[in-house]
Amino acid sequence: MKTPLALALLLTFFMAAAQTPADRQKAETLLHRMTLEEKIGQMTQVTLGVVCTPQDGVLDPAALKKAIQDYKVGSILNVTNHALSVDQWHRVITDIQDEAKKTRLQIPVIYGLDGIHGQTYTLDATLFPQNIGMAATRNPELVAAITKVAAKELRASGVRWNFAPVLDCGRQPLWSRFPETYGEDVYIGKTMGVTAIKAYEEDGLKQPTAVASCMKHYLAYSDSRTGKDRTPIYLPEIEMREYYLPQFRAAVQAGASTLMVNSAEINGTPVHASHYLLTDVLRKELGFQGVVVSDWEDIIRLHTRHFVAATPRAAVAMAVNAGVDMSMVPSDFSFFVLLKEAVEKGEVPMSRIDEAVRRILLLKFKIGLFDNPYPEPAAAANFGLPEYQTLALQAAHEAMTLLKNDNAVLPLHHDVHLLVAGPAARSISALNGCWSYTWQGNQEQWYPAGSKTIVAALSDKLGVDHVTTTAVAGFDNPANYDTSALKTAAADADVIVLCLGENAYAESPGNIRDLALPENQTALVRAAAATGKPVILVLTEGRPRFITGVAPLASGILMAYWSGRKTAEAIADVLTGDYNPDGRLPYSYPRSMGEMVLYDRKPTEDIREIFNSDMTMNGYDPLFPFGWGLSYTRFSCDGLRLSTNQLHGQEKLTVSVTVHNTGNRDGKHTVELYTHEHYASITPNMRRLRAFKKIFLKAGESQTVSFTLDKNDLAFVNAELKTVTEPGDFDVYIEDQKATFSYSAGAQ
Ligand code: BGC
Repeated sequence: MKTPLALALLLTFFMAAAQTPADRQKAETLLHRMTLEEKIGQMTQVTLGVVCTPQDGVLDPAALKKAIQDYKVGSILNVTNHALSVDQWHRVITDIQDEAKKTRLQIPVIYGLDGIHGQTYTLDATLFPQNIGMAATRNPELVAAITKVAAKELRASGVRWNFAPVLDCGRQPLWSRFPETYGEDVYIGKTMGVTAIKAYEEDGLKQPTAVASCMKHYLAYSDSRTGKDRTPIYLPEIEMREYYLPQFRAAVQAGASTLMVNSAEINGTPVHASHYLLTDVLRKELGFQGVVVSDWEDIIRLHTRHFVAATPRAAVAMAVNAGVDMSMVPSDFSFFVLLKEAVEKGEVPMSRIDEAVRRILLLKFKIGLFDNPYPEPAAAANFGLPEYQTLALQAAHEAMTLLKNDNAVLPLHHDVHLLVAGPAARSISALNGCWSYTWQGNQEQWYPAGSKTIVAALSDKLGVDHVTTTAVAGFDNPANYDTSALKTAAADADVIVLCLGENAYAESPGNIRDLALPENQTALVRAAAATGKPVILVLTEGRPRFITGVAPLASGILMAYWSGRKTAEAIADVLTGDYNPDGRLPYSYPRSMGEMVLYDRKPTEDIREIFNSDMTMNGYDPLFPFGWGLSYTRFSCDGLRLSTNQLHGQEKLTVSVTVHNTGNRDGKHTVELYTHEHYASITPNMRRLRAFKKIFLKAGESQTVSFTLDKNDLAFVNAELKTVTEPGDFDVYIEDQKATFSYSAGAQ
């Protein structure tokens, strides 16, 4: 829903002003006392490795002194290798702030980490489903709940800045960071993203339960043409504004404190050098007042990789002039040196430096670092509470998306004999994915004791006598791909559960050449099917790998995503019917490379021309459509009603429908409302998700669900790049129900 510009600016202003009038004054006073070097130091962010000994989490006092005293560094991020304990974090943060206290102005250091799905970098922190799994839950309250835990566990570790949430829209499934997105739909991305930002910040950043959020990666980072991380995006502005900008606009209005920039280029301009995106759109149009931080090494890369800056200093000047406030340098002090030179030579105006530093100081005041920069006992008390495990299980449960269940093969009887096989069956990392105690998430020694594999969770539930496995630890271990061992072991099994998908990866190491599930995994499916036993596929994967050739061989398919600490337990609960699945696909599961059509396709994407006017209308033909997800009960809906068939001007339209649970199990169900405009000045989408609501119905129960829409919910970006609602006829779809109304601009 778009708020008019003036109102957006006003809202943002009041939000910022209402929270921090005194802080603003203090920041201004401090700024006036600062030297150029002190200012540039505040704009410099280095990685922990710069101030550490080779031993993880152990600071090097001389290196720390150099960073903070000589280079006046204002921010530090990251780990050197892997997660640290709460106590280690407390030591690190305390030593850093002690050093900052020795500086002339005693400006505290702001520490930032990537708590992407829970607090990644603290040992024993609770990890939840990746955003892609949270999108499948269709449950914003759950997103809020897990985000608050992430905030608490970060703050408990002494860290008050989280580089999350990712607001990139997942419209390119090849992209290695697809699991970090909320999937292909703008409305879900906006809803979940705003929910996360509020959950991080709404308690007030001085409180021990909150952290500053960082919306990222502005803008359209996810839309790389090849799917390789940090590679070129070619994006018409109309598409940018329709699918990628709304999440950021909404996040700014929700009060996000900081923003991280897309490392890649759009239409040939690296975003770190784009004055248009970083200043004209972000500041002037969206009204963002917070801190803009670069991504990893991305300023110098304007010179070393993008070749738009002829010298390193030109790169620094270009990014700062474009609107970057803080440089994630992160491995040296070159930014400090080069920016100083650039200012002295008049290549960057002092006003721009002051503007950036003012924002950084204000952030530090807002999060209470000037009151107390040290780890807070009240925050530490919130680490690792038992209820986080319950929440992790609920989140994993609600993420589970049952894609196929032929002949009701699921749920399994508790006395079934299973063969559990495949590379993910005895893996922890393949259940958690990226940013899990390490960046890549693939070092299992750092996962909490008590993390279960799928084999362990099923054995615990059914009894060890009921579970045979050919799987071994190590996703890539050749034994996991031994088809003859699988066939032999299947002899005594009633059902084969094959755990396939992707081991953990993050960013560029997750780049792939082919979206197809690797051949050594599909061979397992064929071998399992050849035994004649029913085969259930459990997919733990960050993005949809093609399974088109083998899907018909499986009776059941469960998409488990990378669902965090309780993934295995949730899988076992769903397979055995102890949890009735309710997840919904947050993307269109593609059929093959030539069939990558998204649900909100344009009309001619639906059309498959055969010869001239001879055509079919089956262009949207994914293996499983967006929103797909089965249950062990049956839901139906009827009685779609509109409060009016003629919507005028600013009026509201109420849409209601009655949902019935006609099966014999209780269950949750998401009702999704889509619209479609018949004719418009640019080609209308075939469907747009405009609202959703998740409800719980006992077996036999019914409930009427209502949605309220107005003209903003029918809007799109037109050829003049304006978000408009055009008069016309609209269809409303809820499941198999359809109704039509007209919208006209004037009042009745
Ligand atoms: C990623 C960011 C992350 C940063 C700091 C970069 O490589 O692109 O998402 O916040 O590293 O860890």
